[in-house]
Amino acid sequence: MSPVDSSIARPQLPALSAVLPAEPLLLMTAGPVPVPAEVARAGGMVIDHLGDTMNMVIRHIKELSRYTFQTRDEKIFGVSGPASAAMEMAVTNLLWPGRRVLVLKNGLFSGRFAEMAAGVGAEVEILEVAEGEPIRAEEVAERLKAGRFDAVTMAQGETSCGVLTANLEEIVQLARDHGALTMVDAVCTLSTMPLKKDEWGIDVVFTGSQKGLSSLPGVSLISFSDEAWRMAETRQSPHPHWCLDIRRAQEFWGGQNYHYTAPVPGLLALHEALRLILEETLERRFDRHLHSSLALQAGVEAMGLQLAMPPQHRLNSVLAIDIPGSANGDEIRKYMSMMFKVQISGSFGLSIFRIGQMGEQCRAPNLFRVLHALGVALAGQGIEIDQSAGMAALESHLAEHAEDIL
Ligand SMILES: Cc1ncc(COP(=O)(O)O)c(C=O)c1O
Repeated sequence: MSPVDSSIARPQLPALSAVLPAEPLLLMTAGPVPVPAEVARAGGMVIDHLGDTMNMVIRHIKELSRYTFQTRDEKIFGVSGPASAAMEMAVTNLLWPGRRVLVLKNGLFSGRFAEMAAGVGAEVEILEVAEGEPIRAEEVAERLKAGRFDAVTMAQGETSCGVLTANLEEIVQLARDHGALTMVDAVCTLSTMPLKKDEWGIDVVFTGSQKGLSSLPGVSLISFSDEAWRMAETRQSPHPHWCLDIRRAQEFWGGQNYHYTAPVPGLLALHEALRLILEETLERRFDRHLHSSLALQAGVEAMGLQLAMPPQHRLNSVLAIDIPGSANGDEIRKYMSMMFKVQISGSFGLSIFRIGQMGEQCRAPNLFRVLHALGVALAGQGIEIDQSAGMAALESHLAEHAEDIL
């Protein structure tokens, strides 16, 4: 009798080495982003998920995270999963039936909080502004006055449309004055621009690893204030998500005991990514991101294209560019990948391209390559493009800020 079921076919498939290109496409998308060599090396290793070395790695990740989140929080967790898993950890630990949340929604990702909150039976009110519009503090204040909320959620950067919550600190303060806990999505912004968790009074902030941190996708990071921890710790009802219960996660992240098998390579990679941030310093990293994005913006505009957002609430870390009327965005992106091995993002329904400016994307050679490829691809579709003016504007901004963008 055969030990295998002979009716199930044994497929013939190639090894990935035969399929993947020798040189990967340059990822200038809204994430994931290219990773530094140290990160890639660390992410190629497996060590025991418990024991002295791993304990040290975890201690270091927490310490490095405190610097990156700008907090003194003790309760910091790595989450095995995408940034959405960290969002889910925030939501499911602080909300349950009977608790009320105000979700500030200006796009797909900030709206995801509402789906998750509804999923755990919380009462959800959504303050929704048109996609691409910023959240206005006055409107938040009005909603807070009209109702009682246990929590308020928001994204620092709404990647789906490229809008920045420039007044984040003010909104957090309004929520605090109301007595509500705040949950902030810093998925595409952490380490690309200032975010001072403690000074701004944010209760929970989280990020993915595959964006500003320039690490491997699959592990995310979250920090809880003492007040948020107390709320989660004293909940009476059982937590519906075993993996995401921070009381259980604290076993591993606080007690060096088994919770579930940690995503070892992802954590080693994250350690290196965070260490590189420490080495660069946040001040220099913010400058690099700012001037890289401004240089690209100058190039895009000089080429004759329109940036989708006005400067006062433009998200520098994911730049939204209007697709000119007659251009076919999908074809342009395909052409860029095929001819120039550069990939950029489309959107979820809006007529924009999105170019990432996070982590390793913010390097001068990458800027030249992506802008050149975009210009050529658009010109190939008959769009009037001033390629030389675009490249010259990029170069000139970079030259002025050569020290910031090495
Ligand atoms: C602002 C923001 N929040 C949340 C997410 C979700 O991240 P993930 O796809 O890693 O779950 C993304 C992903 O692009 C994002 O940009």
